[in-house]
Amino acid sequence: MKPIQVGLWGIGTVGSGTFEVLKRNQEEIQRRAGRPIAITMVADLDVARATSIVGNNVRVVSDARQIIANPEIDIVVELIGGYGVAKQLVLEAIAAGKHVVTANKALLAVHGTEIFAAAHNKGVMVAFEAAVAGGIPIIKALREGLTANRIQWLAGIINGTTNFILSEMRDKGLAFDDVLKQAQALGYAEADPTFDIEGIDAAHKATIMSAIAFGVPVQFDKAYVEGITKLESQDIRYAEQLGYRIKLLGISKRTPKGIELRVHPCLVPAKRLIANVEGAMNAVMVHADAVGTTLYYGKGAGSEPTASAVIADLVDITRLHTVDPLNRVPHLAFQPDAMSDLPMLSMDQVVTSYYLRLRVADQAGVLAKVTGILATANISIDAVLQREAGEGESHTDLIILTHDCPEAMMNQAMAEMQQLSTVLAPITRIRKEELN
Ligand code: NDP
Ligand code: HSE
Repeated sequence: MKPIQVGLWGIGTVGSGTFEVLKRNQEEIQRRAGRPIAITMVADLDVARATSIVGNNVRVVSDARQIIANPEIDIVVELIGGYGVAKQLVLEAIAAGKHVVTANKALLAVHGTEIFAAAHNKGVMVAFEAAVAGGIPIIKALREGLTANRIQWLAGIINGTTNFILSEMRDKGLAFDDVLKQAQALGYAEADPTFDIEGIDAAHKATIMSAIAFGVPVQFDKAYVEGITKLESQDIRYAEQLGYRIKLLGISKRTPKGIELRVHPCLVPAKRLIANVEGAMNAVMVHADAVGTTLYYGKGAGSEPTASAVIADLVDITRLHTVDPLNRVPHLAFQPDAMSDLPMLSMDQVVTSYYLRLRVADQAGVLAKVTGILATANISIDAVLQREAGEGESHTDLIILTHDCPEAMMNQAMAEMQQLSTVLAPITRIRKEELN
């Protein structure tokens, strides 16, 4: 049978993995897809490097639009990245009637509404399993496997670079910048690693998962985003003493008032499986009414793990491209005319628990004043730890874990505590999730 013909934009880390895995496993993949899948055209800025990867039997061009112009190409795989040229190319490919596979979470989190609407109008598929959690089939699980459920929340380690940095800093005592360089060398980091360390990449992924889980439009601009750059190693150590690990989590929850969508460092009980996800591995917990809690774990970045997800999408499209577009699985799990307009909550409205570290004067009555402010605000304390002051030191650290309260209430209490003359430095606040 005639192969389905694929054009590939960008043969870097993920593109080269996709080419290699498709070649290596072509027989097995064909048995699943029902016909061969062949990358017959590649566009990359570096034609010589691209040719050295794909050989002379594949047409290599520098102008991505030549792939769109080729009527033989059925599916375009976008592995360039970013919101710039990639957006324009994807929209042009859709307009030309091509199906699209992309690993580009930035593009979909920011411009997904426009892209999915264009694809719907044209009757083509946009598949994006690789955009979230690399090789883990979490999009498939949320969109299809859990389709019977009312999903209540999801929480995930969805950025391999930052999880790798946190693991190496904790276990090997390595410096932040050194570990980031390693992550870049291993192909985990984004072209601009700020996206990883400032939580933006995780927020892109959380935005996409939130849309699929709750049937709301992708709304990256409503996400709260905080990365790991301000984390201090002393907080990682104090958290350990209290039985917690600090992870960068992407969280989305359905609440009676609307949907929480947030990315920030988070204390997680050390006994939870997700707290023990190390290195560049990813894991996503999903809590839903019928199935309960499920956990999805695997490699969240890297050449072949991500290629695994890209090729799964190619197989899906190969199987489904002749199906009536109205009978295909909707891009965001819910039918386009059945999307919800549930509001996205501001951070002030989020309810969670907290870890606070206060640098305080080592004097009588300090603890009473701090706990007094929390009591007045009706914030219940879960645990308190006070570091013994070192010899000659006139200050110490006070660590407080609280129970759940609205963030606005915590902000107010922190502002009052900060005013105390015995609180000697800006208070550190890290959110805490029990995930039970
Ligand atoms: P790379 O930077 O390794 O590869 C991108 C490739 O695109 C490069 O070869 C680049 O060429 C090429 N390129 C840039 N502009 C153009 C253009 N206008 N036309 C054709 N080719 C172009 O990126 P990755 O493979 O790491 O990432 C690709 C996508 O996959 C991104 O969206 C990323 O977020 C996503 N992703 C990456 C993962 C990973 O582990 N790396 C995991 C999951 C998703 P040149 O180098 O010459 O500029
Ligand atoms: N930079 C991303 C990460 C790649 O580190 O997780 C996978 O999306």
